[in-house]
Amino acid sequence: MVRRMIVAANWKMHKTLGEAVAFVRDFLAGPPEDGTVEVVICPPFTALADVGRVLGDGAVALGAQDVFWETEGAYTGAVSPLMLRDAGCRYVIVGHSERRQYFGETDTTVNRKVQAALGQGLTPIICVGEQLAQREAGITMQVIGRQMEAALAGLTPAQIAGLVVAYEPVWAIGTGRTASEADAQEAARFLRQVVARLAGEEAAGRIRIQYGGSVTPANAVGLMSQPDIDGALVGGASLKVESFRSIVAAARQGAAAKRGKGEG
Ligand code: 13P
Repeated sequence: MVRRMIVAANWKMHKTLGEAVAFVRDFLAGPPEDGTVEVVICPPFTALADVGRVLGDGAVALGAQDVFWETEGAYTGAVSPLMLRDAGCRYVIVGHSERRQYFGETDTTVNRKVQAALGQGLTPIICVGEQLAQREAGITMQVIGRQMEAALAGLTPAQIAGLVVAYEPVWAIGTGRTASEADAQEAARFLRQVVARLAGEEAAGRIRIQYGGSVTPANAVGLMSQPDIDGALVGGASLKVESFRSIVAAARQGAAAKRGKGEG
């Protein structure tokens, strides 16, 4: 099963309109993508429409960092899947650990958001990951397995096959402490097994699983050469054009390494 690599920039609460548009213009002015790697840029809500206009229908896709589950209504402060589509989004990050930590996101709300996003034709990038204490207690797989099952509840195998999942250990986010290649691969393989159990082998072979948490140009090739890791969700290192470009190039190398081994 050949899965196309996917590298997404999660800018979190960074960049003014001017900075966001300048980044994208600069990125697009570089060498064109050869299609091996799908690139997604997820700016803050305020910059979505402007960045979307610059990206147009081109190879680089637009994504949002969160979404609400209703289409419209009296939900002050919320942004709907319909609005994201309207702004040009193809992707939306759902269930990021920062949303879970600071904004009351739960497994149940993640599932509602995933269903609503799919209903508007958006592809969710679902984030799962354990906290440090959970890893130390040896319950990583239970934690991420439970998050995954809850996020996928009620979805069809075909819907599940089209999803992107990001394995992001919470202790690795913004800390400079990356998961080892072996630990990241083990978690990704486990998540794929969860999908196989819930939705069958075909969906498990097609769903794309990213690693996220202190990805840098230096560690990206090793992580993305792992057989079950199909890309990266990048925070800090996605804020500068050069380092983000290097990580996209690393994904290309990772894909080539896997083809060389007859995997992926
Ligand atoms: P960092 O790459 O800054 O560790 O952030 C990872 C992340 O949370 C991406 O969603």
